[in-house]
Amino acid sequence: MKNITTTAMPALHALFCAALAMTSVSSPFYCNDNTMQVVNSLPPKRWSWNDCGTPESPVQITDAQYSLDRPTPGDNLTITIKGTSGVDIEDGAYLDVLLKMEEFVYIDQAYPLCDGSSFNTSCPLKAGTHEIVNTIAIPDTMPVASYYARFNAYSAGHDELGCVEFHVKLIQG
Ligand SMILES: *[C@@H]1O[C@H](CO)[C@@H](O)[C@H](O)[C@H]1NC(C)=O
Ligand SMILES: *[C@@H]1O[C@H](CO)[C@@H](O)[C@H](O)[C@H]1NC(C)=O
Repeated sequence: MKNITTTAMPALHALFCAALAMTSVSSPFYCNDNTMQVVNSLPPKRWSWNDCGTPESPVQITDAQYSLDRPTPGDNLTITIKGTSGVDIEDGAYLDVLLKMEEFVYIDQAYPLCDGSSFNTSCPLKAGTHEIVNTIAIPDTMPVASYYARFNAYSAGHDELGCVEFHVKLIQG
């Protein structure tokens, strides 16, 4: 049997098999196997995150959320990052940003963390728990592909603060 890809098919399939079950006709094999459960299940999230700092890093990332499970070019995507800092983060702190599409490096650059020009934060960020909310517009022209983004935070004195990384697969809208 061919793969079934349209969203209406799982419901039709279930109806068809349920109807068959009420008759004496023996069910075709695809009413009995479990291939349709894959089609029936919700599409998987197309992103993941990971704390890429060390256990000794002053900033530990505790959670990250995307507003969209399946981001597509042209979407506004809100990323919420929660973390705990053991130190005050002062003006002059910066993020080294690495963005790769597949193996191609898109961005490899430092951006100020505190002045609001690149990130939705203002300093000082006192030691403790913080939540940073950033909304970004994914450009219409961004290729549908797998992306990797890594944010390495440093203090004004270039001390490593923490790290968070993301894998995102943009899908066709
Ligand atoms: C994204 O946000 C901008 C600015 O708020 C808005 O004009 C635009 O319609 C939004 N796009 C989508 C796809 O929601
Ligand atoms: C900036 O952060 C504030 C507070 O968390 C939030 O309400 C606001 O929507 C954020 N702005 C953007 C552009 O992400």
